[in-house]
Amino acid sequence: MPDAEAAAAAVARQIAETVATKPDAVLGLATGGTMEPVYAHLVRAHREGLSFARVRTVNLDEYMGLPPDHPNSYHSYMARHFLDHVDIPRGQSFIPRGEGDADAAAREYAALLERLGPVDLQLLGVGHNGHIAFNEPGTPIDATTRVVRLSDETRQANRRFFAEGETVPAEAVTMGTAQILSARSLLALAVGEAKAAALSSALDGPVDPDCPASYLRLHPSCTIFADKAASSGLR
Ligand code: F6R
Repeated sequence: MPDAEAAAAAVARQIAETVATKPDAVLGLATGGTMEPVYAHLVRAHREGLSFARVRTVNLDEYMGLPPDHPNSYHSYMARHFLDHVDIPRGQSFIPRGEGDADAAAREYAALLERLGPVDLQLLGVGHNGHIAFNEPGTPIDATTRVVRLSDETRQANRRFFAEGETVPAEAVTMGTAQILSARSLLALAVGEAKAAALSSALDGPVDPDCPASYLRLHPSCTIFADKAASSGLR
């Protein structure tokens, strides 16, 4: 893809096609800077007639210790960029709980994913260090939905979203690599030079826990969209 905008538009098109052909699809959603233009495109598609009324959505992760109305919680992110602007009834969108007992929140979310059944299309961003969701380097392929400690690298990368002096949470609840890989299709997006090393390890390196994004190669239906900058390290 020539640039980040074209890659985001292509990803949004694929999601819109899934919803048009399967109006009650289960969509797995992601957050982060990369996804903001994807949601902008989907909101536009909705204004032009695409309905999300029967879709169910499950998010990949949530910081532990942030109330849902904290501006940096993924609850707030999803409301701001997508859920408040489309016709998905609120009871059909699920994000891990970021407050209270962390292990209980992870258990509840794992049970919810089990009840909902396979995700039809899982959207994924690639972290600077090759993480997917908050499955950090070192995560085995069969890791389940759980509480994780965020790496210093990830907390540093996400600092930019937090106010000066505010602490980036150290823990999160994340969908596990096992659940992610059980989706019917995966759709990953990586843009910008900062993702070049991670993308090259994911695609050209060994399939290895050091780079959880490398697991994507084992999925029978995974499409990865990247712009020129993120692809610049590929062989
Ligand atoms: C977000 C998530 C993360 C991000 C990744 C990239 O729900 O699970 O894996 O997709 O950290 O973040 P950005 O797009 O901010 O570079």
